[in-house]
Amino acid sequence: MGTFKNFIGGKWVAPRTKKSFPNRNPADLTDIIGEFPASDGRDVDLAVAAAKEAYDGWRRTPAPKRGELILKVGQILTRRKEEIARAMTREMGKVLKETRGDVQEGIDTAVVHGSEGRRLHGFSAPSELPNKVGWTVRSPIGVAGLITPWNFPLAIPTWKSFPALVAGNTIVLKPASDTPHSSHLLVEAFEEAGLPPGVVNLVHGSGSSVGNAIVQHSDVRVISFTGSTAVGREISATAGKALKRVSLELGGKNAMIVMDDADLELAVEGVLWGAFGTTGQRCTATSRLILQKGIHDEMVRRLIGRVAALKIGPGLEEENEVGPLINKARVEAVDEYVRIGRKEGELVCGGEPLTTGVFKKGCFYAPTVFTGVKPTARIAREEIFGPVLSILAVKDLDEGIRCLNDTAYGLSSSIYTRDVNRAFTAMQELETGIVYVNAPTIGAECHYPFGGTKDTGNGHREGGTYPVYEVFTEWKTIYVDYSGSLQKAQIDNRKNE
Ligand code: UN1
Repeated sequence: MGTFKNFIGGKWVAPRTKKSFPNRNPADLTDIIGEFPASDGRDVDLAVAAAKEAYDGWRRTPAPKRGELILKVGQILTRRKEEIARAMTREMGKVLKETRGDVQEGIDTAVVHGSEGRRLHGFSAPSELPNKVGWTVRSPIGVAGLITPWNFPLAIPTWKSFPALVAGNTIVLKPASDTPHSSHLLVEAFEEAGLPPGVVNLVHGSGSSVGNAIVQHSDVRVISFTGSTAVGREISATAGKALKRVSLELGGKNAMIVMDDADLELAVEGVLWGAFGTTGQRCTATSRLILQKGIHDEMVRRLIGRVAALKIGPGLEEENEVGPLINKARVEAVDEYVRIGRKEGELVCGGEPLTTGVFKKGCFYAPTVFTGVKPTARIAREEIFGPVLSILAVKDLDEGIRCLNDTAYGLSSSIYTRDVNRAFTAMQELETGIVYVNAPTIGAECHYPFGGTKDTGNGHREGGTYPVYEVFTEWKTIYVDYSGSLQKAQIDNRKNE
């Protein structure tokens, strides 16, 4: 067990507070990964000052060169993939197969944005006046504050930091206090790649002290946050007053529709992965299963058999399929929803924390399924962020689509059908930012836009190339008039009318 530090101005430094918090393995709470800085606003001030100082040098570094450094970070992550995956499973809980995927998502993100350094396109358009040209370039914004969640402890920090940096911003990263070690390892990769001091800064600590200080700091001009809708609203309100740009990736209540004509085996595989992958702790998790009546009973029968057979246990043991929840507070929050669910539907599987034998020291919860859930039920409407699936029955596609859309959130959705007309109707009518056909609601790829409608965010997208650069760049429009005379737009081109 070690004592970890913040990374400010190119150096590992202890927090001003001289305080720390323990980072525990959720599969075994007696296993402490290390003590991490419980920083406060003073540490944020130092990090923002370092980022501000580094900004001019970084923004003047050619974008292809910035991209090369990100590609180098990707190579370091590739070399350290297995080690980081194991460290991530130990601190976050999800099974090794998934943490390897999480690191891979970071590597893929490096490829996308590293190479974007050689594009970062603006556009040109002909001027309405003779002997005049206009074009656009993307300029960086300044210091970016990145506040990241614990469920994708490596991938999400890369989704935010790589494009922010390629665009020429400098960053202050505050990772979730449940998963500081993964960000520590990412920042080690930045350090090894040789980014100049102050370009990347890392401050550990709680959202209420470190996160707040970043959001409120007048020198932080853009914020990117992934987390709960409640916190996102607060950030948006604070940053709105200061006219800061904010990108928010918030909650989800994603659903999968299975039609009578679907391949049921495929749908069962899909919902198992969508609902119980990452122990249900994805904002893209399938938490509602909407079944057309004709296949309802058969689908429930097949599903329950498979859920009961899921191998639950510590993620570091290769054979396990479902790891623990992130901490005891999540176990209690999930259990509270299950208590509510018992009144709202019929519990057909799971429904309790796992506390004996191999589960004794950890935060385990049995994969849980409710049937007979009404669209008005709280377990059909509120984000649970755990291994709990609510099953609803509908008579046809129209009702299925209405039911799926009947939520405050709009991240991901899915339909299983073999009927092409139904599939295209769903693609048109589903109100989510991501729609899957014959695939579960999770598993987005990093080069497509990622994000949702309604209370899932504030209209921005991560991922892809262009969407995320709308967050991290300003458009600069440049006009050059080489006519040698004053030409008035909107006026001089109408002289003869
Ligand atoms: C999240 O849950 O916040 O699409 C991100 C997926 C993952 C990312 C999820 N690639 O499920």
